[in-house]
Amino acid sequence: MLKEVAERLKDNYPYGDPLYAGQMLKPPHDVARRAYEMALPINPNNHALDGGRASSAMEKEAVADLARMIGWDTHLGHLCGGGTMANLEALWIAGQLHPGKTILASTQAHYTHQRIAGVLRLPFEAIPCDRRGRMDVDALERRLGAGDVGTVVATLGTTATGAVDPLAAIVDLRRRYDFRIHADAAYGGYFLLSDNLEADTNTAFECIREAASAVIDPHKHGLQPYGCGCVLFRDPSVGRFYRHDSPYTYFTSDEMHLGEIALECSRPGAAAVALWATQRLFPLERGGEFAKGLAAGRAAALDLHARLRRDGRFVTGTSPELDILVWAPHVKSVSEASNLSRRIFAEAAQRQLHLAIATLPVHLIDVGDMTRDCDTIVCLRSVLMKPEHREWTDRIWAILDAATTAAGVTR
Ligand SMILES: Cc1ncc(COP(=O)(O)O)c(C=O)c1O
Repeated sequence: MLKEVAERLKDNYPYGDPLYAGQMLKPPHDVARRAYEMALPINPNNHALDGGRASSAMEKEAVADLARMIGWDTHLGHLCGGGTMANLEALWIAGQLHPGKTILASTQAHYTHQRIAGVLRLPFEAIPCDRRGRMDVDALERRLGAGDVGTVVATLGTTATGAVDPLAAIVDLRRRYDFRIHADAAYGGYFLLSDNLEADTNTAFECIREAASAVIDPHKHGLQPYGCGCVLFRDPSVGRFYRHDSPYTYFTSDEMHLGEIALECSRPGAAAVALWATQRLFPLERGGEFAKGLAAGRAAALDLHARLRRDGRFVTGTSPELDILVWAPHVKSVSEASNLSRRIFAEAAQRQLHLAIATLPVHLIDVGDMTRDCDTIVCLRSVLMKPEHREWTDRIWAILDAATTAAGVTR
């Protein structure tokens, strides 16, 4: 039977290989895997202390480390299924505090925000982005001026291009307008620790501490298996909105049960154990080994972006802010570039280089003299989130070069 499982699992891309440079995917670190496996036979449930005493304590410690990384002295937070659940909880609290008021996020924010607002029956509006894919602060201010805004979602690391919204300027707007800030740092949060960001990107990350809530996904850049997101609130008193009674599960202790501050009931204690162990081995500190891994991925993205710019056969987005980059072939028209992006994607895959595809508004790509016969352009996209990518840029470039030639794109 397990042989059959092994057979079935062959139908996958090689996510752990450095030549997998497509989506936000990588295997968890060994320490996370082993700690998870150690907890599995116990199968603790972090809903109540009665279901997982040790793992609940480990969750509280691991989450406190994340809050410290943001720079908060106080916090309330917990792990959850992923970025979507974490953002749902943050916007649910936002709606409890500002019932009926509008949620704003940028046009490049994750689609989950609009959908969550729908689930919560809160009005949602998208704010345009500048050519770097960051929220346009002037447009935001105009919308704030029109009134009735409850919460602004700032994305620190957009899914498509890794753009970081200008959080310092957004925080500044609170002097003139009354609104709550939620930082969706599901992808980018850990870059708080990286020492090779542009100055304004760095400032935006430092400003997460000014937000009311934040989401950081350990299952993206935190070396964890899927099923590990984290929502954090700066003001612990929002815990009052979660209050409920569970006479059948909260009985052995007066201490806080994590189920009392989470929307989900049962949650895997093993995920908390894995995160705790990982953070013990790789403390969340600037200059530490974990931070160096993030910086290496970003250096790889900068290197590849520079090669793409020099080459002459490509058009690109602006310089990457994190470790995600987008590009397309430089041909006569945007529609032709879109077709050829797909061809290069397939040619690269045949040569074992696995990229991703993203359809983006044309204004995010510096298309130069190309005819703009479409509003969107299909781009190649690469998430260089493995530290090994730094050493593999020559090889990635060589395959991309061959794939581009095979697709018929010339200088
Ligand atoms: C910025 C951002 N927010 C939210 C999400 C949703 O996270 P999840 O897929 O863990 O639900 C993602 C996923 O890529 C993301 O990049």
